Amino acid sequence: MTQPTRLPAWNALQAHKAEIAGLHMRDLFKEDPERYSRFSIHWDEFVFDYSKNRITPRTVDLLLQLARQAELAPRIEGMFRGDKINVTEERAVLHVALRNRSNRPICVDGVDVMPAVNRVLERMARFTAAVRSGEWRGYTGKAITDIVNIGIGGSDLGPRTVVEALKPYGSDKLRAHFVSNVDDADLIETVKHLSPETTLFCVASKTFATQETMTNGLSARAWLLDHARDDAAVAKHFVAVSTNAERVAAFGIDVANMFEFWDWVGGRYSLWSAIGLPIALAVGMDRFEELLEGAHQVDEHFRTTPFERNIPVLMGLLGIWYNNFFDAQTYAILPYDQYLEYLPTYLQQGDMESNGKTIDINGQPVAYPTGPVIFGQPGTNGQHAFYQLIHQGSELIPCDFIAAAQGHHSLGRHHEILIANFLAQPEALMRGKTYDEALAELRASGVDENDLAKPAAAKTFPGNKPTNTILYRKLTPRVLGSLIALYEHKIFTQGAIWNINSFDQMGVELGKQLAQTILAELSNDEPASSHDSSTNGLINAYKHLRQK
Ligand code: F6P
Repeated sequence: MTQPTRLPAWNALQAHKAEIAGLHMRDLFKEDPERYSRFSIHWDEFVFDYSKNRITPRTVDLLLQLARQAELAPRIEGMFRGDKINVTEERAVLHVALRNRSNRPICVDGVDVMPAVNRVLERMARFTAAVRSGEWRGYTGKAITDIVNIGIGGSDLGPRTVVEALKPYGSDKLRAHFVSNVDDADLIETVKHLSPETTLFCVASKTFATQETMTNGLSARAWLLDHARDDAAVAKHFVAVSTNAERVAAFGIDVANMFEFWDWVGGRYSLWSAIGLPIALAVGMDRFEELLEGAHQVDEHFRTTPFERNIPVLMGLLGIWYNNFFDAQTYAILPYDQYLEYLPTYLQQGDMESNGKTIDINGQPVAYPTGPVIFGQPGTNGQHAFYQLIHQGSELIPCDFIAAAQGHHSLGRHHEILIANFLAQPEALMRGKTYDEALAELRASGVDENDLAKPAAAKTFPGNKPTNTILYRKLTPRVLGSLIALYEHKIFTQGAIWNINSFDQMGVELGKQLAQTILAELSNDEPASSHDSSTNGLINAYKHLRQK
C-alpha cells in the first residue's frame, strides 16, 4: 500500500495535466462528435454522463492506471470479503452485507453474518406490519400515528434523507419526524403538535452513548411519562436501534424492543440496517427491501464491472482528477429533485467524515489533498444563490447534477422547466460565453459602441467547468438505493486511492471531550481560568449574560 504520489500513474497524470491545461471542453466537443457516447454509461435505470469533464481518452486511461496501481480491485474484494479494512478500529466494513439480497455468505471472524442480518430484517418486517396495521397500540389503546426518530449523524441523516425522498410512497396515517439537535427547540417544536398517546419514539444510536441522542431520548421519555404517568407506557412508545444492548437496557428500554446492528456497520453507512426502521415504518417493509435491492445492484456493479465501465470508480477517479491535479477543494451535489433535499447534507457526512483524513492507513501523514468540502442544495434554488461563484468565481468547483426523467407529479410544466434548467446549467458551465459573444449580445441590444468593453468583460463566462450528470427514470425506492450506493462506493474508491481509512472518525472526538469539561464548568458560577483566554473569556461572558 504505497502513497499514491509515488505511483507512476500519478506522475504521468501531473505531466498530462500540464498538457491539457489549455484545452477547452467547448473545442473538445467540436472536435469529437462521439464525445457523449464515449464518456457516458447507460446502466439499469441510470444515465451517467461524464463527457463534460476536462478529460481526453488519455486522461481516463491514466486515471484507470492509477486505480490499478493503487490496487483498488483487491481493496474492493477485501471489503466484500469482510476483511478488517477499518484498521484503526480493527473492524470489517460490511454495509454491503446488509443489502446482500443474493444471501451469498459473508464472514466476519469466520462466521457468516447473513443469518443475523436476515433475522433482524424479519423482526423489522413484523414490527413494521404491526405498527402500520394499527395492531401495535399506545398506552391508551390507540394506534400509532407519528414516529419520532431520535438520533444524530448517521443515525439521523440516512433515514431522514430516505424518508424525505420517498415521501410519495408514505401515508398520512403514519408520519415520520426527526429530532437530532441537542438544542431543546428541536424536540419541543417536533412534539408540540403530537399526542403522546399515538407517538412512537425510535431512539437510534450505534453506541447508545451519544450525548445529544441520550439527552433527547430522556426528555422524550419524560414528555411521555408526564402524560402517561405510568412507566409501563415506555414499552409501548419506545424502541431502540443500537449495537449496545447493555446501554439500551440501562437507558430504560426493554431489549425486547431493541433492533440490533453490528460494529461492522459504520454510522454513516447504517441506513441499510435497523437504523432504517423509520424508513420501513414510513413506506412499508416491501419498499425498504426495494431500497436494499437497488443498493445491492450497485454493489454487484461495483464488484464485477471493469473499471472503464464502473460508474462509482469513474466518479471517484474524476473527483481525484480535480482534487489532486486542479487543486479543487470543494465539490457540489446538485439534485434537481426536491425529494432529494437532504441528499447534499447526507453526502456531506458520508464523504467528509469518511475522507476528511490526513493520516494514511500506515499512520503516516499524507502529502496530498484528500476529501473536499461537500456542499449543495436542490436545483433550481442554488441557481439563485451560489451558482454565480461556480460560473464566474476564482474557485474550480466540480458539480454533480442529478435528476429524474419522470417526476412524481404532473403539475403544469413544472417538471419540464426543472429539467430544462438541469440540462442548461452543465451546458453553460461547460461552454461559457466568450468576450466576443458577450460583445455581440450587447451590440444587438443597442448598447453604445463606446460603452461595450466593461459590461462585455463582466458578462464573459470562462466555461470549462467540470460536471457529471446523473439522470434516472424516476425516484423509486430501488433507484434511490442505487443512487446512494453509487456515492458510497465513490467515497470508497477515493479513500482507497488516497490510502486512508475511510471508516473511522477520530476527528470528532476532541470537541466531545472538551465539551464534557466545559459542561461541568457551566454548572457553577465560578470564573473559568483553565482554558486559553478566548475560551475562558467566552465562558465567563456566558455566565454573566445568562443571569441577566
Ligand atoms: O460524532 C460522530 C458520530 O460518531 C458519527 O460518526 C455517527 O454517525 C454519529 O456520531 C452518531 O453516533 P451514534 O449512532 O453512536 O449515536
